[in-house]
Amino acid sequence: IPVDSFDLVIFGGTGDLARRKILPGLFRRFCAGQMPPEAQIVGAARSEMDDSGYREFVAEAIHEFAGPLSEDAAQVEGFLERVCYVAIDAKGEAGWEELKSKVREDLVHAFYFSVAPSLFGDIAERLHLHGLAGDESRIVVEKPFGKDLDSARELNATLAKHFDEHQIYRIDHYLGKETVQNLMAVRFGNVLFEPLWNAQYVDHIQITVAETVGVGGRGSYYDASGAMRDMVQNHLMQLLCLIAMEPPAKFEPDAVRDEKLKVIRALEPVEPYHIVRGQYDKSKDAPGYRQDVENPRSFTESFLALKLHISNWRWAGTPFYLRTGKKLKARTSEIVVVFKDAPHSIFGADAGRHRNVLAIRLQPNEGMTLDVTIKEPGPGGMRLVDVPLDMTFADALGPEAEQATEAYERLIMDVIRGNQTLFMRGDEVEAAWAWTDPIIAGWTARSDVPKPYDQGGSGPEDSLMLMHRDGRRWRELK
Ligand code: BG6
Repeated sequence: IPVDSFDLVIFGGTGDLARRKILPGLFRRFCAGQMPPEAQIVGAARSEMDDSGYREFVAEAIHEFAGPLSEDAAQVEGFLERVCYVAIDAKGEAGWEELKSKVREDLVHAFYFSVAPSLFGDIAERLHLHGLAGDESRIVVEKPFGKDLDSARELNATLAKHFDEHQIYRIDHYLGKETVQNLMAVRFGNVLFEPLWNAQYVDHIQITVAETVGVGGRGSYYDASGAMRDMVQNHLMQLLCLIAMEPPAKFEPDAVRDEKLKVIRALEPVEPYHIVRGQYDKSKDAPGYRQDVENPRSFTESFLALKLHISNWRWAGTPFYLRTGKKLKARTSEIVVVFKDAPHSIFGADAGRHRNVLAIRLQPNEGMTLDVTIKEPGPGGMRLVDVPLDMTFADALGPEAEQATEAYERLIMDVIRGNQTLFMRGDEVEAAWAWTDPIIAGWTARSDVPKPYDQGGSGPEDSLMLMHRDGRRWRELK
């Protein structure tokens, strides 16, 4: 379904995010017929360049990052006709009047701040000064949204000077992932799971976001952030919220975000011995974390595992184990709900221990498996075995599922539609930092040193111990 016609201005239009995600994403939506004929994309950045120079940049981005669709020359040409460029100075006056002449008054306006947060205030102010932004204009901002509670509050206050909360779209690209939204469909679209979705029936929940990549060329950003600020405070926190929240009355922005906020506010402070920090070591043929970030004395974590508790009626006593890390053995994002033992085994001790386990794979091979206990086939008496009911969405739903919209495409279209459901509200972000800050402060106070771990493994040994101590274990990374 095409969205309303729009002008989308990308500040930082020549940056890495624009090149890798925003522009290829918009191109794919264009190919899908979702972009109305008058829609226009304006790249805005410091470099001096004309429209045709920018179109070349966009064409390259598409060829590199938009997949097979980029081979369709007519589509690429058609998309480039929608693209133009303005050289602009975020901190000065150059370029703003030209930008104004390109932005058409009667359309939806979205301004994507794909720039360092230190420029948010300058850009917001100039948009107003030059009469570019109205009450219905939308702005899009990216993570990192602050580095702690104080800086997040400051950013929120800066944006609030010029924009109302209903105009601010804070992106957490995990919320745009198909399967992440599916969490809500699974929980609230079925009667099967929700009655069991509580401390009475759930033994524990695991959330894993494992990556095989290292920190790449982002060493200086990453070394100042670590896994806590880069992944846990935002992406894993959002997954936790969707898994743990109460059913919202409606699938509407504030109904959903109110419930997520309650989860974050109900998080208990984490005991230091419920946290494992790791840093990938150098291997025979690959540099280690410290070489990658060019900081031989870095104590930043590239791996983090935590055991959390949510203090509310539904989850009292049920642990949530979260882990994320770089240079691990598989790229796997998965949520695993491990149900409790049956209250009484009529089959006796020999039958062993069997549990229902619901594993929701977010990426890759999106799908779900539910381990169900059945009788082992054969004449050997009543022996039990767990078998997975296995559903890979691409198998079940066909090519549609395989061509699923990428996170950024969906989120940008939601901005144009004016739907904030999949964006973080200011108070959510602040609540997440309020929970994160004391943990990081504790590391600093104790001069905590992350444990080295082997590349291509499952993280530090201590992370396994975090589970073993409780008689549990992580689901194998694969
Ligand atoms: C980003 C982090 O937000 O998410 C990166 O900054 C991380 O460090 C990335 O690699 C993971 O995203 P995805 O979509 O590849 O799981």
